[in-house]
Amino acid sequence: MAMIIAIDGPAASGKGTLGRRLAAHFGLPHLDTGLLYRAVAHHLISAGEALDDVAAATAAARALDLQRLDDAALRGRAMGEAASIVAAMPSVREALVALQRAFAGQPGGAVLDGRDIGTVICPGADVKLFVTASAEERARRRWRELVARGEPADQAAILEDIRRRDRRDAERATAPLAVASDAHQLDTTHLDADGAFAAALGIISSVMASRTKS
Ligand code: CDP
Repeated sequence: MAMIIAIDGPAASGKGTLGRRLAAHFGLPHLDTGLLYRAVAHHLISAGEALDDVAAATAAARALDLQRLDDAALRGRAMGEAASIVAAMPSVREALVALQRAFAGQPGGAVLDGRDIGTVICPGADVKLFVTASAEERARRRWRELVARGEPADQAAILEDIRRRDRRDAERATAPLAVASDAHQLDTTHLDADGAFAAALGIISSVMASRTKS
């Protein structure tokens, strides 16, 4: 039986790690959709285009190739910020819808994480998780991640980044960060990666069990 798992949540909430682990557990392909917006921003920056150039950003989104998302170049702090600027452009989002839906529609299903998976990309997903954590805890996690990547940063500045990005993602007109009405919220403030994974598995098995009954 195919199973689509949609995971949404704010910056550094742990949805990427959770998505990877769930995908490995269920043997499903995983798409971190944040990488798409990061790749569009990266393309503009490398080509010397302005980040607010809607035509250039839309062309970059249309030309995006899922097979060629280069993780290392896209994961940095500046790219997350730049991604949230192009992600607010309706034409960029629209250019990326078909590709995400095609990924979700693979025969066995898929795991996708992002901001609008449960609301816009896969409103019919079998399981929707909305992963949150306090802004302070998310800033600590992002700081640890950046240090591990050899990108030392100031924790207070990261907290500021996270708050600004939360605002931009939640307040934009198209596909804002929002909890789908049928999403299960998972607050990971006091959970480590294993705890979040176990909690998510619990939610998924109860959702799937209630579906088989009905
Ligand atoms: O890892 P982190 O949560 O910091 O960022 P990300 O998931 O890679 O997303 C980077 C930016 O892309 C976000 O701040 C959003 O503005 C945008 N994004 C989006 O609009 N829709 C998605 N489905 C995924 C990301």
